[in-house]
Amino acid sequence: MTSQTTSHTRRRILQGATFAAAAGAAGGLGLGRYAPAARAATPGPAAGGTGAGSNPFMEGAFAPATDELTAFDLKVVGRVPRDLNGRFLRTGPNALGIEDPRAHHWMLGDGMVHGVRLRGGRAEWYRNRWVRSSQVTKKLGETYPGEVPPDDFACNTHVIPYKGRVLALQEGGPLPYELDGELNTLRPYDFRATLKGAFTAHTKYDAAADELHAVAYYPTWDHVRHIMIDRTGRVARTTEVPVPDAPMMHDFALTEKYVVIVDVPITFDAAAAEAGALVPYIWNDKRPMRVGVLPRAGGSTRWFEVDPIYYSHTLNAYDQGESVIVDFTSMPAPFHAAGRGNGGPSATGAPALDRWTIDLRAGRVRSSRVDDRPQEFPRVNESLVSRRHRYGYTASAAAMWTAYETVDGVPPDTKFTNCLVKHDMLRSTQQVHRFPKGAAASEPVFVPRRGARDEDDGYIVSYVNDPDRGATDLVILSAQDFTGRPLARVQLPGRVPLGFHGSWVAA
Ligand SMILES: [Fe+2]
Repeated sequence: MTSQTTSHTRRRILQGATFAAAAGAAGGLGLGRYAPAARAATPGPAAGGTGAGSNPFMEGAFAPATDELTAFDLKVVGRVPRDLNGRFLRTGPNALGIEDPRAHHWMLGDGMVHGVRLRGGRAEWYRNRWVRSSQVTKKLGETYPGEVPPDDFACNTHVIPYKGRVLALQEGGPLPYELDGELNTLRPYDFRATLKGAFTAHTKYDAAADELHAVAYYPTWDHVRHIMIDRTGRVARTTEVPVPDAPMMHDFALTEKYVVIVDVPITFDAAAAEAGALVPYIWNDKRPMRVGVLPRAGGSTRWFEVDPIYYSHTLNAYDQGESVIVDFTSMPAPFHAAGRGNGGPSATGAPALDRWTIDLRAGRVRSSRVDDRPQEFPRVNESLVSRRHRYGYTASAAAMWTAYETVDGVPPDTKFTNCLVKHDMLRSTQQVHRFPKGAAASEPVFVPRRGARDEDDGYIVSYVNDPDRGATDLVILSAQDFTGRPLARVQLPGRVPLGFHGSWVAA
C-alpha cells in the first residue's frame, strides 16, 4: 500500500527552515495556500465551518484536517529531553469528503493518526495520515491492496504499540489496522489469524504478564467476548460472557485477578439500524446498569447493579484485598451515543473522575467522586495497568464540553477548562497545568524517564493548540514538576483536531 500511496498522492513536504517559515503563516491562514497532499475527492466541510445549526464536531477545535503533511526538523521552544526516543502517536475521527456535515457523526469520521518522531533532543518529523480503509483509499483515488475485510473501517479511536507493531484500533466490528513507522497503513491485523471478528479500541496491556486484553462487542452477538492475547501474540483464550440486548461497551478494566466488564444500558437498536441510523445504539431505560467481575482465567461473571451513568474511560484498576478498585471518567445518564450529528445532544453534563470500590465479600459497589470538575481521557503510567497506581492524568478542553453540553444539562465550570490534571490518588490532591483559551488540550500520555524508579518519574506528552500560532504544539511536561513551564513545545505545521487516544511508541 505504501508505494501506491506515494504514487497516487502528492504529499506536502516541508523541510528545515522552509517549514519554520511556513508554519506561522499556515496557522493563521489555514493550510489552503499550500498544495494539498492527500486530500478528499470532494472538499471536506471543514474549511470555513459549516454555518449555524451545524455539527459542532465539524467546527473549531474539531474541524478535520484536510491535508496529509510531512514536516522535518520541527522548531522547538525549550528542550526535548534526550531520553525521549520514539514516536508520539494520537488518532481521532477526521472526516474525509462527506456530503452533509449535519448528518455526519463525529465518531464515524475516518481515522487520522498524527505523529511526532523525537530522537536525541530533536523533533525529527511530524506526519499525519488517514488510515487506509477500503473507503478511504477509494476517496483518495488509491487502490486497496488485497481483500477487503468484513466491517472494514478506518479505525479512528486508539493507536497502540504491540510487539514491534503499531495498531490502529476500533470497537464494535472492524479489525485493527497495522501501520508502519511513518504512519502508512500496511494491512488489517488479526493477531496471526487468531482474532475472529470484533475487537476493541481500549485494550489493556499487562506488562508483567505480557498479555493484551480486550472486551469486544458486536450487534448480532448474544454475548460479549473477553479476549486474551498471550506473549506469543496470538489469541490464547476467548471467554464468551452472555449479555442480552447487544450493548455498546466502549471500555473495560483489568486487575491482576479480574476483568471488569461494564454493561452500560446503551443497546443496539435494530429498527434504527434498518432506518439507516449512523450509530444505531440507544440509551435503554428498561435495562439496569451492571458491573461484571470475571476471573482473568475465565469462568463465570459475577454481576453487580449500580446507578446508571455513562462509563466513559478507565484510568486504571487494581485488586485491594477482597475488593476491586476502578478509577474512571463518567458522564451523567442518559448518554446518547447517537446524539450530535444525526440527532439531539449527546450528554446531560460534563464528565468527571470517579472511583468504584467493588466489595466482593459484601457483594456491593461503592461509588465515590474523585474530582467533579470536567475532565476526560484519563491515563496512567502504562507499566501499572492492572496494578495499584498512585497517579493519574486527565485533560480538560472547553471545546469538548461545549460540543457535548445540552440545554438541560449541567454547564461546565468555565474556570476549569483547557488544562491537564495530575491526580494523586493517595493524597486525594490534584495539580492543574493551565493553558490559554482555545488550547484544546488533548489526552495526556505518560512516558517514563530512562531509568525511572518512581511512578511519576517521566514526562507527560499531549497535543495542545497554540492559539497565538493557530497551530498545534506537542507539549512535553515534567510529570514531577507538573505545573512548571513545559520542558518543550514542539511546533507542528498545522492544527491537530481534538480527537481520541494515543500512545508513546518507544523506539
Ligand atoms: Fe475512548
